[in-house]
Amino acid sequence: MRLFLDTADYDEIETAVGWGVLSGVTTNPTLIARAGQDHETQVKRICELVGDVSAETVTERKDELVVEGRRLASWHKNVIVKVASTPDGLAAGKVLAGEGIRINVTLCFTVNQALLAAEIGAYIISPFVGRLDDIGEDGIAVVRGIVDAYRQQSIRTKVLAASLRHPMHVTQSALAGADIATMPFKVLEQIYKHPLTDIGIERFMADYRKTQEPQPARR
Ligand code: E4P
Repeated sequence: MRLFLDTADYDEIETAVGWGVLSGVTTNPTLIARAGQDHETQVKRICELVGDVSAETVTERKDELVVEGRRLASWHKNVIVKVASTPDGLAAGKVLAGEGIRINVTLCFTVNQALLAAEIGAYIISPFVGRLDDIGEDGIAVVRGIVDAYRQQSIRTKVLAASLRHPMHVTQSALAGADIATMPFKVLEQIYKHPLTDIGIERFMADYRKTQEPQPARR
């Protein structure tokens, strides 16, 4: 499973790239607004840092979405165009996919929506795990269901587990067979952490320092 950051914050992305674990980034209008930068400028900067970068469309009608999707894709070869899982979003996605533009179908909450996305030739489907959990449903079960259905139908659309809120979501996404997990920077930091790792380092360092102290002369 490849790890993506769900952010438009340049410093966070640069840090994770430095850690050597980052394969891509997902953005959305909320994250772009939070980064306080113009959409095009920020997406282009991020594309220079990391492979796949999902950039979201903000129009609603098919024709507008097609024009907007082409414009987003023209920004950089790393851009993957996000369209929402609506009739217009999928119809526009089909036109764009037909032109060779990679499509990420976002705001997916059911296996059936994932089947529709596959039908239009989407490159990525993004089930939103945390938002399903928020309303008392089982987000990871939907990821697992999509992975199973895609496997049975020999569908090659990649399953990207999105809206992940904590480290268990990352583990569960991997166990469910997701191809990609996208997470906030805070969650990426958390998955490095274990108290026994910290205690182990402290002990090893303390023992190493002992070996650096002058030893009593032997007779
Ligand atoms: C994914 O592409 C979305 O940007 C994201 O994961 C949404 O997460 P949220 O539900 O925490 O806003």
